[in-house]
Amino acid sequence: MTSTVPISLQRRFDLTIDGKDVTVTEGQTILEACRQVQVDIPTLCYLETLTPVNVCRLCVVEVKGSRTLVSACSRKVEPKMEILTDSSRVNTSRRMVLELLASSVDLSLADDEVGHWMQQYDVHPERHGPQSDPAEEGERDRGHAGEHKAIDGSTAETVAQPIKRDNGQYLRDYSRCILCYKCVEACGVDAQNTFAIAVAGRGFEARISTEYNVALPESACVYCGNCVAVCPTGALMPTIEFDLRESGKWDPKSQTVTQTVCPYCGVGCNLELHVQDNQIFKVTSPLDHSTTSGNLCIKGRFGFEFVH
Ligand code: SF4
Ligand code: SF4
Ligand code: FES
Repeated sequence: MTSTVPISLQRRFDLTIDGKDVTVTEGQTILEACRQVQVDIPTLCYLETLTPVNVCRLCVVEVKGSRTLVSACSRKVEPKMEILTDSSRVNTSRRMVLELLASSVDLSLADDEVGHWMQQYDVHPERHGPQSDPAEEGERDRGHAGEHKAIDGSTAETVAQPIKRDNGQYLRDYSRCILCYKCVEACGVDAQNTFAIAVAGRGFEARISTEYNVALPESACVYCGNCVAVCPTGALMPTIEFDLRESGKWDPKSQTVTQTVCPYCGVGCNLELHVQDNQIFKVTSPLDHSTTSGNLCIKGRFGFEFVH
């Protein structure tokens, strides 16, 4: 009788990261290889539960022999690669990406690490000039692909515009949108398969939109909130959280997170109840939960009012 010996079909090989030898596994991305040896790479559009879309270009690194910088979040490792993560070319590119974003988008509620990167890469969005006036309600949504308004160069163009509040569950504040596509992916093939939102327009007119720009209640949206869960900038926000912030009662120090299991069905999704002043203001699920990967349905995400 022969015994079965498990054999790994994935090759291991060597490359260098910032001059240090590293052994990696075939199929890994450069980002995964860097994280394996504690080399920090900033990312905005990357999330481990979503397919890389390569749109923010913040994760770029230099690879010897490559004409252009490559995005670490999607480029796979190759034998003998020589990767530089902290060269002047890399840092200049990251500074430019952050500066252009910060000059045109409100990043004040973005994940904390964005603020750290702004300092680390010496980002000065103010050098692009004072920000232009916000668009009127619906103005940016009416932009046609390929049509651009002439600018006089005296101000920095922005995506500032009124907040969209058209349902009871969450708001859309596209003045904060960096077009990272995470919400589109979460609504589409990566999680929900509802396809209620997509990117409309081109160039600076590009924006997240429902089909024909209808209000959310008239769209295909099923209010799973999976888009809200992955948004890194606060552009998508539960209404209760928004109202707490607007009323000046937002108090992170008094907030708690309680883990529980969704009571609505037998799937058993893990829930994290975010609570302030005895009120649930947001429900999330851990990204590393094998059942949810951070995703929920409308009942788990928003069906908590019976608790109160
Ligand atoms: S709540 Fe769910 S269905 Fe609605 S837009 Fe967001 S991801 Fe799509
Ligand atoms: S709304 Fe949020 S998740 Fe969607 S593209 Fe904009 S920043 Fe990204
Ligand atoms: S994180 Fe790699 S391109 Fe956005």
